Amino acid sequence: MLESENNLLEIRDLSVEYKTRRGVAKGVDAISLNVPENKTLGVAGESGCGKSTLGRAIMRLVAYPGRIISGDIIFNIEEDIVTSNATIKRGQVNLLKLNEKEMRAIRGKEISYIFQDPMTSLNPMATVGTHFIEIMKAHDPTIEDEKAIDRAKKILIGLGINPERVTDYPHQFSGGMRQRVMIGLALALKPKLLIADEPTTSLDVIVEAQILEEIAALKDKFNLTMILITHNLGVLAQTADNIAIMYTSRVVELSPTLDLFEKPLHPYAQALLQSVPDVTHPEKQLAWIPGAPPDLVNPLPGCMYHPRCPHAMDICTQIVPPLVEVEPGRLVACHLYLEG
Ligand SMILES: Nc1ncnc2c1ncn2[C@@H]1O[C@H](COP(=O)(O)OP(=O)(O)OP(=O)(O)O)[C@@H](O)[C@H]1O
Ligand SMILES: [Mg+2]
Repeated sequence: MLESENNLLEIRDLSVEYKTRRGVAKGVDAISLNVPENKTLGVAGESGCGKSTLGRAIMRLVAYPGRIISGDIIFNIEEDIVTSNATIKRGQVNLLKLNEKEMRAIRGKEISYIFQDPMTSLNPMATVGTHFIEIMKAHDPTIEDEKAIDRAKKILIGLGINPERVTDYPHQFSGGMRQRVMIGLALALKPKLLIADEPTTSLDVIVEAQILEEIAALKDKFNLTMILITHNLGVLAQTADNIAIMYTSRVVELSPTLDLFEKPLHPYAQALLQSVPDVTHPEKQLAWIPGAPPDLVNPLPGCMYHPRCPHAMDICTQIVPPLVEVEPGRLVACHLYLEG
């Protein structure tokens, strides 16, 4: 799993369950992956495949009625964290073993999250400056308002927003600017890892392109490691170093971005890429994937993609293929690539 690199985050065998009236659905099913430091991991796949559940599990913020049922999330902490409520020594820490107070010291400071729906994350009654003050005070109650506002202004400048607008309220900003403010808030405490969950879905394509460019630039400016969740593969082509393709709560392919776009290995990744328009070859027919993903409450045996897969074999209906390295640096969960 890209073992040779310096990993900021290592996820081992992570599973999340949602208990619903219809039964138990696995939102994340035995996922293992690494996120190397200062790299961007893109996470893509159809709606409902578990992208947000994976992102939120890393923050231990799985939405009700979800629950992390097993796994390890190993995060590398560079410097000792000491707050009024928690002390965490530097080194590798299993986030799933921390108590809630310790986890609160990690959220925002070490790992920050930009949620899928930014509109509901800003308080309409509070100025942008107040948002920054609250986030910074939650982590360090001794910080003075003035210092927090100074930091807010610096961040806003970096995001192309007039710093004097710290006194404005969220409704006084356009959608794109509000999303920039959300990104700024996520960066307020200088996190090491930023998880961005569909950060541009609610925006028009031009603003989306601008914001994605800015996110990519911020990564270098702030020395960030990123997990960028999106169903838009075009976006990942420009921003991600590696891409995890998810299908029905599992990772089916994990490859460097260039390799994936040049030659996707998993049949689902192949189908997904054929459904992305290619501006350099507009004559190419766009494909769609026949069928729909199976119901997670009644999971299929074997590889869950088998009813939609043009290469399905008997074994695919019986045995779940493990995610294994089939070419240097490329991991695939598909019987086509497994010996025997
Ligand atoms: N609050 C919930 N209650 C019950 N089941 C849920 C809940 N949230 C998610 N799930 C289950 O977990 C699966 C994964 O959901 P998740 O939100 O992680 O998908 P996603 O890939 O982020 O989708 P989208 O692209 O639509 O945001 C869903 O298919 C659903 O079965
Ligand atoms: Mg989602």
